[in-house]
Amino acid sequence: MLLETSYLGMRLPHPFIAGASPFGYHLDTVKRLEDAGWAAVVLHSLFEEQVSMVREGRIAHMSPDDQRFAEMIEYFPKQSDFRYGPHEYAEHLYRVTRAVKIPVIGSLNGHTRESWLTFAPLIEQAGAAALEVNWYEVNTDARASAAYAEEELVEMVRDIKGLVKIPLAVKLSPFFTAFANVASQVDEAGADALVLFNRFYQPEIDVTTMQVVPRLHLSTNAELPLRLRWAAILCGRVNASLAITGGVATPHDGIKAILVGADAVQMVSAVLNHGPSYVTVMRTSLEQWLDWHNMASIAEARGRLSHRTTENPAAYERANYIRTLHSWGVPAA
Ligand SMILES: Cc1cc2nc3c(=O)[nH]c(=O)nc-3n(C[C@H](O)[C@H](O)[C@H](O)COP(=O)(O)O)c2cc1C
Repeated sequence: MLLETSYLGMRLPHPFIAGASPFGYHLDTVKRLEDAGWAAVVLHSLFEEQVSMVREGRIAHMSPDDQRFAEMIEYFPKQSDFRYGPHEYAEHLYRVTRAVKIPVIGSLNGHTRESWLTFAPLIEQAGAAALEVNWYEVNTDARASAAYAEEELVEMVRDIKGLVKIPLAVKLSPFFTAFANVASQVDEAGADALVLFNRFYQPEIDVTTMQVVPRLHLSTNAELPLRLRWAAILCGRVNASLAITGGVATPHDGIKAILVGADAVQMVSAVLNHGPSYVTVMRTSLEQWLDWHNMASIAEARGRLSHRTTENPAAYERANYIRTLHSWGVPAA
């Protein structure tokens, strides 16, 4: 009771969810998450490029047989490098949902409003409790406006809402000029949850080989404040549930997420670092903390420090920036 929360219309025994990660690849590892006590699990994503390659033999309208795009296509992982093709993904999801009792959230990851979206109903039919869509675009075209990028995102939400009945979570980027406005539009388009934020893996420069290379670093809680700020600003202003993903590394991080208004807290790096049993540390610490503060449930803590309810909303605004700069003392002469 103490930790019960509602996320995407589902009652969860506590707010800690295992986010999309390689734990989703195998039924056994999903079962380990369930046995450890995670409230729900998000499967790893099925990527737009996988679907469009299988359905149309192309990636973003580029055919691998077209020499103009050969280099670009070459950079994507090969179909055989993905653990599951689109139909295997749906079959895997079906097997997982039959085998575990916790809600299993399917995940699609893409950047266009094209035919790959019609795969969403297969995720629903496979038994997913909900669908999370990770929308990740790098807009390199200087002629493409912010308004166009936002419209595509919002229309994608409408498209998917028209295709499935299961709840829809949208995993968002923080890189919008007016994020609160974009979040409100996504909310109004029918998203049932906003997941803050997608974590962007930046390309690394290898100075030895002079190549641009991909490199994955697990997160630290240095990434959390950006999420806390925007959850705090959106709390009470959108109908959608709020989830935080990115930089929740310790029990205190989880408590902060609740205080700013998160309904659910997704974790990946901490699970990869400490193993699935880390959820017990998160839960018991949250329980103890509520107890110390004489709170009977997390409902009493949730959103206490949101932009709307905190005594000092300016702490989330520009004033915080100036105050923070001024908090640094004068260096010794
Ligand atoms: C190895 C690895 C694989 C991931 N795969 C996916 C994925 O398939 N889809 C997705 O939306 N996010 C994926 N993520 C991102 C996580 O779901 C999560 O949003 C991100 O790691 C931030 O959370 P954290 O700080 O708790 O790690 C992956 C992360 C890692 C480390």
